[in-house]
Amino acid sequence: TARENAASVLSNEWVNDEYKHLRVRVDALAAQVKPGQFFNLQCPQTEQDKPFFRRPMSTWFANAEQGYVDFLYKVVGAGTRGLSTLRPQDAVNVLGPLGNGFTLQPGHRHILVAGRGVGLATLAPLAEHAAAHDVQVTALLSARDREHLMSQQRFLASGATVIEVTDSDGSSAMAQVEQRIRAVHQQSPIDAVYTCGSSRVILLLQRLSQELGFSGEAALEQQMACGLGMCYCCVRPMRNKESLALTDKRVCYDGPVFPLHEVVL
Ligand code: FES
Repeated sequence: TARENAASVLSNEWVNDEYKHLRVRVDALAAQVKPGQFFNLQCPQTEQDKPFFRRPMSTWFANAEQGYVDFLYKVVGAGTRGLSTLRPQDAVNVLGPLGNGFTLQPGHRHILVAGRGVGLATLAPLAEHAAAHDVQVTALLSARDREHLMSQQRFLASGATVIEVTDSDGSSAMAQVEQRIRAVHQQSPIDAVYTCGSSRVILLLQRLSQELGFSGEAALEQQMACGLGMCYCCVRPMRNKESLALTDKRVCYDGPVFPLHEVVL
């Protein structure tokens, strides 16, 4: 069960010109976090910014022994600008862990995680979890340039085979990603694919999963308010696999991870 917690900031450092890495002490809550789950963070108000809603932030890393969780975030708007002002020992109110998280199917021997930019931060814990359960992991990391490829070290340390694709590598990034996935699948059949965030990657994986016959899950990024399934401000239509009918689902409560084929973009 999610609880509201007055947590304290351990560190909040820039990792490049756009992203910051926030570490928050959450004590026993850290042991409950599953890959793909998120916390809803209250963002500090600053002189120019008065963020009203909490900001959902997927967990990048959870350390159960030392009782902290890490978040990687892009400083883009009032909420994240507020978060970027947090300093060690500041109090921050966190609600979580929330949402369903990714699922590994028993019997799956090889998974592929594919993402762009900050979406990769959500996939790193899944790669580690899978590797710890003897599942072979291929991680396809894509970004506009090398500087914005996030979490390579985490994927490499987990034992995943890492493939990097940047927009500056020549042909379009998505064409390269598709080519690489086909090559990986030919060499060692993929059982399931996992992604987060990028609509372009989700659309590509939906098409490839139908053609090549693997299953998959996508973690969605969505504006939220309560994060608890009560306000319905994060509702999105999802497609039923059999009937193809659309049903409204709450990303915070029914997700944020959905079967790939359910996602409508
Ligand atoms: Fe309130 Fe999802 S954010 S129901």
